[in-house]
Formats: sequence, C-alpha cells, structure tokens
Amino acid sequence: RAAPVIAIDGPTASGKGTVAQRVARALGWHYLDSGSLYRLAALGALRGMAGPMSLGDCAAPSPDADEAAIAAFAARLPVRFDGDRILLDGADVTDAIREEAVGNAASRIAVMPAVRAALVDRQRAFRRPPGLVADGRDMGTVIFPDAALKVFLTASARARAERRYKQLIEKGFSANLPGLLRDLEERDRRDASRAVAPLAPAEDAQVVDSTALGIDETVERVLGLWALRR
Ligand code: C5P
Repeated sequence: RAAPVIAIDGPTASGKGTVAQRVARALGWHYLDSGSLYRLAALGALRGMAGPMSLGDCAAPSPDADEAAIAAFAARLPVRFDGDRILLDGADVTDAIREEAVGNAASRIAVMPAVRAALVDRQRAFRRPPGLVADGRDMGTVIFPDAALKVFLTASARARAERRYKQLIEKGFSANLPGLLRDLEERDRRDASRAVAPLAPAEDAQVVDSTALGIDETVERVLGLWALRR
C-alpha cells in the first residue's frame, strides 16, 4: 500500500508552508513544498536555462513556444535538495526562489498545462513511507486525489498580506502593504481562474480558516483532524 498523504492546499501566504512543515515534523513524515518546483522552473526560465526566450518582463502569459521549452526544462529540472539548501544546476538558489519576482513568474508558468504535466511524476515521487505532507494548490485535487486527509487552508487577503509584510520587514526587506495586497489578489485570481488545476478546495477537503488563528493553533487544528481521521 502506498504511504499516506496529508494534502494541504490554499492561496498564497495562507501559512500552509509553515503549517505543513510543522505537521510533517510532528508526525516524522516527509514534506513536499510543491510551489518550490514551480519556482525552480520559473527561475530557470528567468535565467535562460530553458532556452533563449525570456520570461523577464512580459506581463502576459508566454507564447506556446515558451511553454514547450519551459515544460521540457521542468521535466528534467536539474535540482538537488541538499539538507536545507536547494541547488539548481549546482547553484544555490535557496533564497533566490523566494523572491516576489520569482513567485510571480511561477504563477505565470503554472497556468501552462504542459508545465503542470511535466511536474506530476516529480511531485508523486516524494510519497515515501512513513508518509508525506504535501503543500500547494492542487495536492488534494490532482496530485494526490487519494490523500488520507485534505486540508484547504485559507485566510482573508488582508490577513495574508499583513503576514507577508511582517515577514519581509523582519528579514530586513522594504515592503509596501497596499502593493503586496494588490499582487496577492492578482495571484489569487490567476491561480483560481486558470483552466488546468485551478485553486479550489477538493470536494472532500476540510476548510480551515486561519484569519484569526496563530501558527500553533493552526498546526494543532490540522493534527487534530488527522487524529480524528484515524
Ligand atoms: O506556494 P508558492 O507561492 O511557493 O507557489 C508559487 C506559485 O506556484 C503559485 O502562485 C502557484 O501559481 C504555483 N503553484 C501551483 N500549484 C502548486 C504549487 C504552486 O500552481 N501545487
């Protein structure tokens, strides 16, 4: 039998990454940050590793030719996870893939069906005993439809923008709250309206709204759902 999966999906900055990591640690399970794969493919495209085209400053989704090249790159994604460092073709990109510009590019290539298809097997390969906690947008709907527990983690756009703002300020970056809120709402719109694997709760997902919850409470809530489930 395949190892059990807990799928945690939700919009940008809902806290699902932190929550999923903490749940994985609490259970002693593996962890998949599926967004990092889209970010890695996007960074490769931005750095010209997927061919001569540029994703750099086009506001609109790229033409089909780009889609094929980026999908080919995503299929062979030359990534190595080395402890807490992420190496793309040997270069440490751990911090680079977290930049807002890369997140935005990731959300642009994530609308491309060929790119999504290229990453399916790579994501499923993370499923190993004793279990996997996977976070993303389509973990419960597309990648692991047989997940033992599906959580859809949300929070109001305002609360998510404020969290992102605090994170950036704490890291010493400058940040602009109205701008963050605008970007976040635009990314929500793109993730929810794309034709392939749009962001939406699975039919059998448990919706957890963390607007008024701290991280600890949210982790407890998910672990509680898992305990009830067994
Ligand atoms: O979660 P994160 O912000 O790192 O993801 C970056 C982008 O990758 C998202 O905005 C989304 O468009 C895309 N993504 C996706 N499906 C996933 C994970 C991420 O489409 N499972």
